[in-house]
Parts: sequence; C-alpha cells; structure tokens
Amino acid sequence: MVVLSGIQPTGRLHIGNYFGAIRQYIELQDRPDHQCYYFLANYHALTTIHDGAALRQQTLDAATDLLALGLDPTKALLFRQSDVPEVCELAWILSCHTPMGLLERCHAYKDKVAQGLPADHGLFAYPVLMAADIVIYNANLVPVGQDQKQHVEVTQDLAQRLNHRYGEVLTVPEPYIVESTAVVPGVDGRKMSKSYDNTIGMFEPENVVKKKIMGIVTDSTPVEAPKDPENNTVYQLYKLFATPEQAAAMRDSFLAGGTGYGEYKKQLLAAFLEYFGPARERRTRYEADMSYVQDVLAEGARQARAVARETLDRVRAAVGI
Ligand code: ADP
Ligand code: TRP
Repeated sequence: MVVLSGIQPTGRLHIGNYFGAIRQYIELQDRPDHQCYYFLANYHALTTIHDGAALRQQTLDAATDLLALGLDPTKALLFRQSDVPEVCELAWILSCHTPMGLLERCHAYKDKVAQGLPADHGLFAYPVLMAADIVIYNANLVPVGQDQKQHVEVTQDLAQRLNHRYGEVLTVPEPYIVESTAVVPGVDGRKMSKSYDNTIGMFEPENVVKKKIMGIVTDSTPVEAPKDPENNTVYQLYKLFATPEQAAAMRDSFLAGGTGYGEYKKQLLAAFLEYFGPARERRTRYEADMSYVQDVLAEGARQARAVARETLDRVRAAVGI
C-alpha cells in the first residue's frame, strides 16, 4: 500500500495543522506494509509565495518541523516536491488530457474568481500538478483534509481517462479523509488558521507561546462562578494535550467554579510544553546541524525519484513521446 501526501510550506505549522492533519499522517508510517511518501509541496506554494528566499527557508522549516514532530525517515520518505522535476513533465502530459470544465469546477480557482481576485494559470492548473504528484508514485491512499478531497477526485478522473485510452498505466488512488475530531480553535476562539493570525506554533519560543496563551479570549464569568468548558478555548486546547484524567479534572473544576481563567491558562501552558517538549528539543538539535535535514531530503528525493522515473517512462511510452 502506497500512502502519499504533500504539505504546502506556506507558513510555520501550527497546532491546528498538527492535530487536524500531521499527527495522523505521521501515524500511518507505523502501519505494516504501508510505504509512505511525504513531500513539501513547494511548486504548489509558488502559487502564493513570490519571494525566493522565503520559499526556500519555509520549505526547510517545514521539513525540520515534520522530522521533529516524529516523521521517521527510516519508515517514510520525506522530500521536496521540486527535487523530483519529473512531476512537471507528467503534469503536462496529464494537462493534455484534462477538460477545462474539470478545472473550472475546482474550488481553489472558483473561489478566487468568485471573490473577484485575479487568478493565475498556476492556480488554475494546480489540481493537475497535484494529480501528477499522486500518480507518479503509484499512490493508493492519499491522506488529506476535507478541503482537498475534490483534488483527489480529479486525480481519479485523470488516471481513469489515461487508463481507458492507453491501457493500465496509472494507479487510481483513494482519498483517506483525516477526520479531525474537532476544529482546533485559535486564540481568538475562531478556527485556528494562519489567515486569521490566531495560531499557536509548536516551535515558537516559550515567551511567545506564554503571551499567546495568556491572551486567549475568554468570557467575563467571575472567578467564583461555575464555567462552561465546552465553549471555552482554554479547555478545548487543554484537552488536546492533557491525559483524559487531567482533562476530566479541569472540566470538573470549570463546572465547580472558584478558579479563574488565568490559572487554567497556566495549566494549559504547562501541558503544551510537556506535550511538545521532546519535539521542541529535537528541533533545536536539528537547527544546530541542518545537514541532517538536508541529508534526509536528499535521500528521500533519491528514492522517490527512481519510482517517479519509472512511471514517467511508462507514460511517455504509452502516449508516444
Ligand atoms: P491554515 O488554515 O492555517 O491555512 P491549511 O489550510 O494550510 O491551514 O491546513 C492544512 C491542513 O491542516 C488542513 O487540510 C486541515 O486538515 C488542517 N487544519 C488546519 N487548521 C486546522 C484547525 N484549526 N483545526 C483542525 N485542522 C486544521
Ligand atoms: N494541495 C495540497 C494542500 O494544499 C498539497 C498537496 C500538493 C498534496 N500535492 C499533493 C496533497 C498531493 C496530497 C497529495 O494541502
């Protein structure tokens, strides 16, 4: 079983990304008979980032984050999308089999146009490149968030078209929808998202995390009054880090009243630091020697590229190139 997913290095990863997606991707590496391919989708990020130094740095940062969070290069491949340029050639071949209507229906492009914003060809063609990413490694299973399901369906459609036309040249993938148990709330209570500037990053300096946690928006229930844990961001975040017993204890304390939000925020900070402590330490070590991260990416690309080359050769032969 080949598992594949791409992550766009468009900003530092936050705890919404981790609990909503990355944790589940990383867990798949431990399943027997699952070969996982994870890559930094820097060609895709180029649809939004037009600053060379920033894109280069963010790509390395995201790779370092993933390794620190537990992606194990002895179990899964990690590489930069652009280190396998064969994917662009395959994208072209797929493009020549892609009806315009299929792409016009895709939401990333459609939403932008609906908002009256200018869209470029990269954004329009984005799902074709994503399809090439998936089929070039013969992926069976593509773990993604709900928002990417449509793109995996486009991939299925294109793979089927080519198989129909040329014989069985491509593997048709299945989406594996990562059910995030809940939407992780940001410090302002809305969905945590880099576009709302309400994120807490796993690897931010302790003083920054402390400031953000202490600044979480809460209601004005007096200290002595009982409080509602279900609609409270501090409790919702604490639950993600705490053991079930710790979460139950905070919940009971909310319902009993008598403790102020400041105290709960301190507990949240302690739980955050404990939960991500080992990952934060690992990241500090990698930062001191980025050659480890570079080596992992190079080896991942070397292995991934060999598979990509075989698929591309097969498709080239089939289409007559
Ligand atoms: P952002 O909203 O910060 O731009 P992305 O859209 O890049 O994040 O998210 C990448 C993946 O992380 C998504 O497919 C989604 O599954 C997950 N994710 C992002 N934010 C959250 C959140 N607040 N709660 C749960 N999952 C999230
Ligand atoms: N488009 C995906 C996102 O924005 C990233 C991505 C690129 C991807 N290529 C992929 C995901 C292939 C899964 C498979 O999140």
